[in-house]
Amino acid sequence: MCGIIGAASSRNVGKLLVQGLHKMEYRGYDSAGIALHQKDNIFNLRTLGKVSLLEDEMIEQRPKSKLGIAHTRWATHGKPSKKNAHPHASGEVNIVHNGIIENYLELKEKLIQAGYTFESETDSEVIAHLLHQHLQSKGDLLAAMHEAIKELDGAFAIAAIHIKDKNRLVVARNKSPLLIGVGLEENFAASDPLALSQLTNEFVFLEDGDIAEITKESYQVFDRKNSPISREVTEIDIAVNAVTKGEYSHFMEKEIYEQPNAVANTIDGKLGDNDVLDNIFGLGSSEVFSKIKRIQFVACGTSLHAGKVGRFWFEQIAQIPCYVDFASEYRYRDPLVEEGTLFVTISQSGETADTLAALRYAQEKDYLSTLSICNVPTSSLARESEHVLFTNAGPEIGVASTKAFTTQLAGLMLLAMSIAKSLNKDQQNRKKLVHELRNLPKVIEETLKLSNEIMNIVPNIADKHNALFLGRGMFFPIVQEGALKLKEISYIHAEAYPAGELKHGPLALVDDQIPVVALSPENTLTEKLVSNLEEVKARGGTLYVFGGENAKIKIERGEYIQMPECSELLAPIIYTIPLQILAYQVACQRGTDLDQPRNLAKSVTVE
Ligand code: G6P
Repeated sequence: MCGIIGAASSRNVGKLLVQGLHKMEYRGYDSAGIALHQKDNIFNLRTLGKVSLLEDEMIEQRPKSKLGIAHTRWATHGKPSKKNAHPHASGEVNIVHNGIIENYLELKEKLIQAGYTFESETDSEVIAHLLHQHLQSKGDLLAAMHEAIKELDGAFAIAAIHIKDKNRLVVARNKSPLLIGVGLEENFAASDPLALSQLTNEFVFLEDGDIAEITKESYQVFDRKNSPISREVTEIDIAVNAVTKGEYSHFMEKEIYEQPNAVANTIDGKLGDNDVLDNIFGLGSSEVFSKIKRIQFVACGTSLHAGKVGRFWFEQIAQIPCYVDFASEYRYRDPLVEEGTLFVTISQSGETADTLAALRYAQEKDYLSTLSICNVPTSSLARESEHVLFTNAGPEIGVASTKAFTTQLAGLMLLAMSIAKSLNKDQQNRKKLVHELRNLPKVIEETLKLSNEIMNIVPNIADKHNALFLGRGMFFPIVQEGALKLKEISYIHAEAYPAGELKHGPLALVDDQIPVVALSPENTLTEKLVSNLEEVKARGGTLYVFGGENAKIKIERGEYIQMPECSELLAPIIYTIPLQILAYQVACQRGTDLDQPRNLAKSVTVE
């Protein structure tokens, strides 16, 4: 999974391509490369490490060109190295690829027999050689691309240039995002509109099976049958300040502090005086909701944790059973679909391969309807779901998800309320929730002020190798999210447990070297949780507890941090905040590259 970009322009494109790569580093950042068409050769430069290293080389070499392609990589096949970095070349063709070619071994075998030699361990290199092979018979890059993709199984977004085509870039898409950016006297291709945000606000989203030729003057899209086809132009304005860090040290820090606004944007225009408004998930959605009997959530990573919290809300507020599955597992267990089940995907990017594949699988099953909660309106998930709620959090750049999560939770609460409304359930609670939701941004702001208090406990965690996170009920998924944040960015091993499970195994880990972080809001489970924490105390454990005003536990080793007063049902959103701050500050103390932690990527567009 990677980011690709291409440009055909009347100006020099090297700098534009590298700037675009910078904005797509969330898709991978282990190596980068660029290929530029020059008078009688193709300049190919690849570097190991982040895009800034490629940029340094480009500044030194200053290549000139009006046509080029570039790539930022997240390794799937073959370790991060210069050789495995893209663009891959075969004779006079250079390509960049995002996705996975599932039949690459078979193709590689055939190409080796045909006399091709492979320089990399990647699956992508077969595309370069296949294109080269078809160019011999077809003599034209577009025709060769058409033939080549017939042989590829798997997911791909490809951009290619050829020495004989000084003006033309050819691209192809199947199951990996790809769009054309329409400019003035220049046109582009990229995996994400964000990459082109300073170049154009007009985009053409390609569909699976599409191929396109792009020159500086024009572009033409062809469908699977190679017939010219016209695809809609969409205007998107991406605020430039949304993709810069501003006064903050890291994107993650900025995104944590953006949460009051982000959540306000999610709920904006969705609430009436005493109830949620009708059809906020799209025209006809309220009518569909009146037929719901079950909900199936599917998501990955942080978004999955949001679904797990949502489950409690749906069972309490809408009073309907919910199932939550890992997107990567769901479609491999032949799920039984009960009548009246709404299929819900949750995703920040809307491009996560497993989530998208799960949606496509569900479309073949007897679900009542499909719905997505998504942060990117132009994403494949948003476009392919029947109903959508955009979280409106603005671009999230830090790899560790923060504002996307809390806005997903706000979106899920709106969904639970909407369904309850359509099913005529729990009106009194909804009325109360409308007011609590309106107040939520203020409470988040209050919670962000705990930063200094949290800072005091950071040194006691930053020097440890392991941590335990405990919660109960709807706070269990919140501690799972807290543990995920800590491990992602600080590389400390962190495990989350429902506190009642402690005695069934993890209690054996407790000693004075393992910090135990617990969430203890005031609710019906407080007493039970406190008993579980006493078990930790009795074994000499160190407790860091975030809880309500009336601390029910006396802590000798560790700290109790008092949370602002908040609504019982919305408390999972509030209790997420200190765990984000804690992970962020611990990672800062350990000096990790926390916006781009090792081995990870923001958007995982491969299975
Ligand atoms: C990656 C990111 C996570 C994210 C997950 C799902 O692993 O690093 O932060 O939660 O993908 O992404 P999505 O865009 O579908 O929410």
